[in-house]
Amino acid sequence: MTQFELRLARRMSRLGTETAFEVLSRARALERQGREVVHLEIGEPDFDTPGNVIEAAVDALHHGWTHYGPSAGLPDLRQTIADYVSRTRGVPVSSDEVVVVPGGKPIIFFSILALIDEGDEVIYPNPGFPIYESMINYVGGRAVPIPLREERDFSLDVNELASLINDRTRLIILNSPHNPTGGVLTKRDIEDVADAIGDRNLMVLSDEIYSRLIFEGEDFSIASVPGFKDRTIILDGFSKTYAMTGWRMGYGVMRADLATHVARLMTNSNSCTASFTQVAGIEALTGDQSSVDRMNAEFKHRRDVFVEGLNKIKGFSCRMPKGAFYTFPNITKTGWPSKKLADALLEEAGVACLSGTAFGAFGEGYLRFSVANSLENLNKALERIEAWTKKNLR
Ligand SMILES: Cc1ncc(COP(=O)(O)O)c(C=O)c1O
Repeated sequence: MTQFELRLARRMSRLGTETAFEVLSRARALERQGREVVHLEIGEPDFDTPGNVIEAAVDALHHGWTHYGPSAGLPDLRQTIADYVSRTRGVPVSSDEVVVVPGGKPIIFFSILALIDEGDEVIYPNPGFPIYESMINYVGGRAVPIPLREERDFSLDVNELASLINDRTRLIILNSPHNPTGGVLTKRDIEDVADAIGDRNLMVLSDEIYSRLIFEGEDFSIASVPGFKDRTIILDGFSKTYAMTGWRMGYGVMRADLATHVARLMTNSNSCTASFTQVAGIEALTGDQSSVDRMNAEFKHRRDVFVEGLNKIKGFSCRMPKGAFYTFPNITKTGWPSKKLADALLEEAGVACLSGTAFGAFGEGYLRFSVANSLENLNKALERIEAWTKKNLR
């Protein structure tokens, strides 16, 4: 122990975390004690990055892409992303509206840092990716949850959203396909959200990191609603689509004047995203996409098997998620609170999952299981959960 008391800045008490990483380390500790754990807690594809992308990175390393690059990203990658987003979202995007960053997460961090003053209100989905609430609180903003309810298939209630918008609202966060519920907003839902916002001068952070992982429904961005491109920041990236979580590369698409400020935040924090990684990013977006299709088909199959299995377990009921690689069963009929049940499944059944409350207060009554694991392991998890419930639930 040091004799000097650690004197942290006050704002650090407001910074949250992502529980998935904590559960992962508890599961690893159990494994070190000789226990065997099925890992369904972390949200990352279990596949390898496609070979063509790896080769492009190795080639880039051999060709000197080992230096600093521009803070906003390599011009060729920014242009490639602009073309890709123009094509997929049906809205013209130019390269000066793209900022490349190390992962999708920094776009959440930078957007909130750049736009939110103390006391400004930010509406965010709850349950939802925990970093939204953490960052809003960190900068002293007011985090205003919009509950996502199972009976609406985890889509948001637009009338409720409209009632939360006021003159202090600066930012609305949307996430579709959604982590942790797998819900997908329809074109109609998004048009209704746009109507609720009307011509207010506020921004929308549209987290579209799972945009390529839609099994039912459509990929529709609020950026393509007339009048919304200038008020939208699209967050997307390479982590989930191309199984590149450890590479750390994502991007934001936003009006060019905001992009220069976000690039300045990059200059102050990271300087730039790794150069050889960005060269590989061009290959990811423009090269053969068959591995993306293969991974998605596999996720869909696993989802089907896992949801069917969950629905046979006493006390569990699970809607069919329409996108992403998560299942979010309702566990209220077990009579157990979510966190206690998640802890028991890890410690007593050897299945690591997340409590719904890791995604906010409105996640109580649910657990999140990632299906980014092999069918064999998913079936093993189902057997273990079922055996545990038979022993522990009456
Ligand atoms: C909804 C959502 N947004 C953003 C991210 C961040 O992705 P990245 O790993 O690229 O930073 C994640 C990762 O889990 C996510 O689920």
